Amino acid sequence: MKGKPVIPPVYLTATYEFDTSDDLIDVALNHEGYIYSRWDNPTVVAVEKTLANLEGYDHALGFSSGMAAIANSVLANVRAGGRIVATREIYGGTFELLNEVLSGLHIETVFVNCWQTDQLLAEIEKGAAVLYLESPTNPMLRVVDIEPLAQAGHGQGSVVMLDATFASPVNQRPVEWGVDVVIHSATKYLGGHHDITAGFACCNQAQYEKIWHYRKILGGVMDPMTAFLTQRGLKTLDLRVQKQNENAMKVAEYLNQQPKVKVVNYPGLPAHPDYEIARRQMSGFGGMLSFELTADFDQTKRFMDALKTIKLATSLGGVTSLATQPITNTHIGLSPEDRAKAGVSESLVRLSVGIEAAELLIQDLEQALTAVAPEATP
Ligand SMILES: Cc1ncc(COP(=O)(O)O)c(C=O)c1O
Repeated sequence: MKGKPVIPPVYLTATYEFDTSDDLIDVALNHEGYIYSRWDNPTVVAVEKTLANLEGYDHALGFSSGMAAIANSVLANVRAGGRIVATREIYGGTFELLNEVLSGLHIETVFVNCWQTDQLLAEIEKGAAVLYLESPTNPMLRVVDIEPLAQAGHGQGSVVMLDATFASPVNQRPVEWGVDVVIHSATKYLGGHHDITAGFACCNQAQYEKIWHYRKILGGVMDPMTAFLTQRGLKTLDLRVQKQNENAMKVAEYLNQQPKVKVVNYPGLPAHPDYEIARRQMSGFGGMLSFELTADFDQTKRFMDALKTIKLATSLGGVTSLATQPITNTHIGLSPEDRAKAGVSESLVRLSVGIEAAELLIQDLEQALTAVAPEATP
């Protein structure tokens, strides 16, 4: 028949049939071909190849969520009695994984503020199975100077992991700084439309074999429909992220001039503490920002409730702008002390800037700021 589908079929199959038992045994032993979709599926493999190419690694592994990608990658590289060095400024769920779940398995994590490079280097020097980094960080938008840390980690034999969700592959190239495993919550920029939950770990051959084995056993694999939607989302990744970079810069500049805004955390603003690192390390400053209102918790809630174009919702990275108070969701599982150490205050708002017209977003913020009581301004 003439004419081929432009879009490859979605392989909605859990299992694969063989002509002979020898063929099945061959695939089971050599991991070449398909045997069961918890191991591999052609639609998932296709999107894994796309992502591996985008990030510049030999492989990418698809997971059912960003947390599944993180948990599998870390667990594949550390044993009971092992030690992890991590930056303190990481996604709340990752902090809980390291601080609660893994500590219960006798795996110790030492947390150091991501800007305390000397202290980080000193802890790396003591030895660590995994050096775990995130950049830019959620929700404070700190930018970690990755290359010297990765070099130090390799000097001690650590596996260097980086959660690069906030930047997406458009704004930074971790492969160039020696990161061993780059992690993405594909729920965010990679999917890009708030309609999937997914994750990836990008790595080279040795790490691929280890993490693939854990994924096969722990079972958090990406499903074929999600792989299809992610593949579709990736086609517009560059366009979306460029627009989000532009919009976020405009919104950050606007917020930066508002008396009811105490501070804006956006690495593209020259006053940001990591502006110079961001300029060197990133090709775009990203679509994420956070800001603190000169307000208490209730006034901040009023601001959130007054937003119209910008949706009050957790998650990030999609075409629609979303705002959230980290204290009420992403960091709700942390103790008040750990939240304070992470810089998450009751008046902190995190904004994921979408692809709407920047003017509409600024109008929305302007009218919502009127909900913050005037007596709260300095
Ligand atoms: C930076 C970062 N990493 C990982 C995750 C976890 O991803 P998922 O929700 O897809 O499990 C999130 C979720 O918000 C995140 O923001």
